[in-house]
Amino acid sequence: MLSYRHSFHAGNFADIIKHIVLVESLGHLVKKETPFDYIDSHAGAGLFDFTHEHSVKLGEHHRGIGKLRAEDWPELAAYFKILSSYNKDQDAGEELRFYPGSPLIASHFMRGYDNAWLYELHPTDFDLLVKNTNSDKRMHVMKEDGLKGILAHVPPVSRRAFVLMDPSYEIKSDYENVVASIHAAYKKFPQGVYALWYPVIDRARVLKLEQRFIDSGMKDIQRFELGLLADGVVRGMTSSGMIVVNPHWGLFDKMSQLLPKLVETLGEDGAFFKCDVLVDE
Ligand SMILES: C[S@@+](CC[C@H](N)C(=O)[O-])C[C@H]1O[C@@H](n2cnc3c(N)ncnc32)[C@H](O)[C@@H]1O
Repeated sequence: MLSYRHSFHAGNFADIIKHIVLVESLGHLVKKETPFDYIDSHAGAGLFDFTHEHSVKLGEHHRGIGKLRAEDWPELAAYFKILSSYNKDQDAGEELRFYPGSPLIASHFMRGYDNAWLYELHPTDFDLLVKNTNSDKRMHVMKEDGLKGILAHVPPVSRRAFVLMDPSYEIKSDYENVVASIHAAYKKFPQGVYALWYPVIDRARVLKLEQRFIDSGMKDIQRFELGLLADGVVRGMTSSGMIVVNPHWGLFDKMSQLLPKLVETLGEDGAFFKCDVLVDE
């Protein structure tokens, strides 16, 4: 039984790097009029309320999105425009109340003819996701294992897809299964864009995860990581990142400009970033 609830963590520093990569990637995809498929293997509830007791309990958003002001981040205008669309009733300068999850962020980029395939296993978050996607016919919500589910959608009829894989890593075998799942999809559809989020709780696990990508035979893989604290100085997640297979041209430059600024704004002692190519094209 899964116990992780993203409502305790929404809007934290890990969501920021994940959702920036999502916004940049989908912004690039919609430059062409041809349709694309958005596949979200671990979709979550879709929308989060910072006044909910879960958010209040940990207050992680205060050290995340609560520290960023839209006016200081013109380079993230698209991201902030989406956030503000869920916070129309907030006065200027007031902290955000609502934070959209990955499926709702993606919905802002989808045209009438694009499709989203959303997987969520937690019964409560599944029900919330159904409610938050609001009978939108383009959003297909499934209470099934997303690690297996993504295979059903590749190659898509559209021949263009962005796969977001954002597990909670509650089950430790996820560190292996995520690479196997992406690799299986890649073999069917090597042109797809695959973006995996990972937490750094134990650096050794992440080094193994990286090595699995390097050994997989998949090409063109980049990694972007934001570390708030040096590894291992406290228990829990101190850093997190995204590994992107087939990133669009321009993502690397954008992230290499954003990450130092994010470190400066959000980081604490020993904060750092990583922006590198794991496997060449
Ligand atoms: C980190 S949260 C997702 C957050 C979301 N992607 C976002 O950015 O707003 C991970 C979610 O995956 C769900 N989950 C865990 N294992 C899953 C699986 N095998 N298939 C589908 N959903 C799963 C959890 O219930 C949880 O809601």
